[in-house]
Amino acid sequence: MVKKKEENIETKEIEIEEVPGVGPKTAEKLKEAGYTTVESIAVAAPQDLADIAEISEGTCNKVIAEARRMASIDNFISADQILEKRKTIGHITSGSKNLDDLIGGGFETQAVMEVFGEFGSGKSQLAHQLAVTVQLPKEKGGMEAKGIFIDSENTFRPERIVQIAENYGLDPKQTLANIYYARAYNSDHQMLLAEKTEDILKKGDVKLVILDSLTSTFRSEYVGRGTLAVRQQKLGRHLRKLHQLADMYDICIFVTNQVSTAPDTFFGDPTRPIGGHILGHSATMRIYLRKSKQGRRIARLVDSPNLPEGEAIFLVTSKGVTNP
Ligand code: GTP
Ligand code: MG
Repeated sequence: MVKKKEENIETKEIEIEEVPGVGPKTAEKLKEAGYTTVESIAVAAPQDLADIAEISEGTCNKVIAEARRMASIDNFISADQILEKRKTIGHITSGSKNLDDLIGGGFETQAVMEVFGEFGSGKSQLAHQLAVTVQLPKEKGGMEAKGIFIDSENTFRPERIVQIAENYGLDPKQTLANIYYARAYNSDHQMLLAEKTEDILKKGDVKLVILDSLTSTFRSEYVGRGTLAVRQQKLGRHLRKLHQLADMYDICIFVTNQVSTAPDTFFGDPTRPIGGHILGHSATMRIYLRKSKQGRRIARLVDSPNLPEGEAIFLVTSKGVTNP
């Protein structure tokens, strides 16, 4: 996609104010929300623009149609181009070969990877691990790149990064310096931060964006039946933006999602927890984590578009994630 951006370089110079229907005020609101290019408007959902710019959906449809015309986005490409693009997918090691093998060689770029499971199942541990391993050289399973950590639960621990970095023989101080960190205080703030990452991503040295957790702010703010639709709508918009970033900047977006297995589903399928299906099928790959004996963790791949379902066992130790 980076290549495609170069091909379309002339469209990048069009300011969004030049799109008919976008006045200065609207442009300001859109830019604030991360819609800084004509392309980003061209591929936006009308409802999202309507919410952000506070204009009618009808106007949004017209604006999007104009943006599409101006951006001259090729809607159709041949399937071999997709295969070519998929060949450029990068992988980031989890530290466990078992887990890497399960997901086709590590956590992928151009994808939103969701890890879900109960408290203490290892979601945040994996997040810390990847923030380090993305920095490793290619031959060690990394991408020699930086990471962004958006923390909504206040569970990021630099000390943990130091431990993991030392285990890989990396300079702890440099490793920490290569992680951009932001704390998200509520769902709107989290969405804004995700949009703002684009400013950093444009520099091209980031290959991983972590949201730990993706869902907790939404869960705590939208409680009760009446609010579910709004929550899903906002979360949907958030996820669309994340997919767009993953695709445009060839990065891995790693999101965590806490789910609790309700007692009445104890004998049912634990990957279908009550009230837990906040994301539906919107992540590219979904990995379900559960605790096992002796500090072991079991990862199960759920709903992968191109990999068989299966399970992998890994360990969380003081040095980070490893194979048993
Ligand atoms: P929630 O955020 O509460 O949903 O849980 P989570 O899935 O993010 O859990 P997290 O990744 O924080 O896992 C915490 C667990 O990791 C602890 O209960 C420990 O079992 C394990 N853990 C964390 N640090 C260490 C460590 O230094 N050594 C060992 N052996 N285990 C650790
Ligand atoms: Mg956690």
